[in-house]
Amino acid sequence: MEKKQENMQISVIGSGYVGLVAATCLAELGHNVICVDNDPAKIAALKAGETTIHEDCLQELLSRHRGTRLFFSTSIQESTRDARVVFIAVGTPSAEDGSVDLSFVESVVRSLAGSMNGYKVIVEKSTVPVYTSEWIENNLAPKGRAKREFDVVSNPEFLREGTAVTDFLYPDRVVVGASTERAAAIMREIYAPLVDGSYAQLSSAVPKPEKARALPLYIETSPRSAELIKHSSNAFLALKISFINAVANFCESVGANIEEVARGIGSDSRIGQDFLHAGIGYGGSCFPKDVAAFRAVTREFGFEFPLLDEIKRINEEQRLRFIGKVRSALRTLKGKRLAVLGLAFKHGTDDVRESPAIRVIEQLLEEKCHIAAFDPAAMDRARQVLDGRIAYASDPYAAADGADALLILTEWKEFANLDLVRIKRLLRSPIVLDGRNVFSHAEMAEAGLSYHSIGRPSLAPAHSLLKKGHIAG
Ligand code: UGA
Repeated sequence: MEKKQENMQISVIGSGYVGLVAATCLAELGHNVICVDNDPAKIAALKAGETTIHEDCLQELLSRHRGTRLFFSTSIQESTRDARVVFIAVGTPSAEDGSVDLSFVESVVRSLAGSMNGYKVIVEKSTVPVYTSEWIENNLAPKGRAKREFDVVSNPEFLREGTAVTDFLYPDRVVVGASTERAAAIMREIYAPLVDGSYAQLSSAVPKPEKARALPLYIETSPRSAELIKHSSNAFLALKISFINAVANFCESVGANIEEVARGIGSDSRIGQDFLHAGIGYGGSCFPKDVAAFRAVTREFGFEFPLLDEIKRINEEQRLRFIGKVRSALRTLKGKRLAVLGLAFKHGTDDVRESPAIRVIEQLLEEKCHIAAFDPAAMDRARQVLDGRIAYASDPYAAADGADALLILTEWKEFANLDLVRIKRLLRSPIVLDGRNVFSHAEMAEAGLSYHSIGRPSLAPAHSLLKKGHIAG
């Protein structure tokens, strides 16, 4: 029987979104954690108490545990010496063909192979394709290293940017794919405070979000199933978004309203309301990469899964369709001055990786538009990508000043409170194209703005389509 440890010694390798949040939250659960990164500047910043990412509650938890239960290091060897469990949370970017580039994982595994000193559980936390746990095992035990010195476990992460800390501490489910009881028991011990609800009862606990489950499900599987759960979950969520976007496009053909349709579909408890918000498509560091990676791994195993291609195709088409709408609202794009609200890939984050907003802007720049943009959080990150090609406005009104149209590209709640009458006064032509359905037609009409959104008919009665002969009578 594995001796029960009060505080587990854990090493987390990688201090990106997943690694830093996991390390901090594991310390919050009472474990002793060392978080490792090979970027000395990042580690120096973290040692000095600065967060390197923008996440609610993270700074507070870092300050709470830094130097007592949470330490930072650049050395894998040093940080794993006393560790019973090593989480691998390094980046797994896309290779050119869409498959996962596992080179960062490989180099961590190589370092680990040289510094194993007794039984450890090696946990894959990064998103990786099925069979990676076997691959890690083979790389850790190349020349007859006793298999009993380690176990490899797949423990995918389901946190969302913006709510990463509460997603970790109050998850819907914890998925653990272990192939031995020894490793499974250690993993159960790590997550016990979450699964038995004792963490939530602490007076110091991060408050539980309203929508969180009373207690998370703890799902034990094989490592391969756990790996597949992660890819399939993200692909399914992306599918929901592409599906609703395709339905939204059809709503435009027949004069139906996607919000009414989505509400009607989503109230079937088997389907659910979440991820049925139509817009200009999904982005971020996960969905585009994971859909492509899932497709690549299915192909590698000779399995055809064209639905995954279709999810991606609809997503890309959604942006082009939106640009088509801007073109038809303005007649020509060349030389137009456009105000853009929103640069982040979604609200609540400063992340612009694979941001649909940035993609739309890049396309509009190719069409020779002039752009002034504003985002509540992502201006600095966007500057690193778009540099001097656009102007950066100090607020939404400065962006709108003198523009030929206003475009809303990220669903920030802040935008919903805009003074539309002021916007109308500032715009050169009173045109708003809302790629995220932040506003209603009624409020735009009241402000005297000509409004175009996704999958929602204008205030003109839908039966006018019948007269135009667009719908068979
Ligand atoms: C996503 C998943 O939601 C997490 O469960 C997962 O752990 C994470 O990827 C990951 O693999 O690390 P995240 O990328 O932070 O999380 O963002 P989401 O909140 O899922 O949004 C993704 C994109 O979909 C955004 O561009 C968002 O604007 C778009 N979206 C989302 C829609 O267009 N419509 C919706 O109804 C929902």
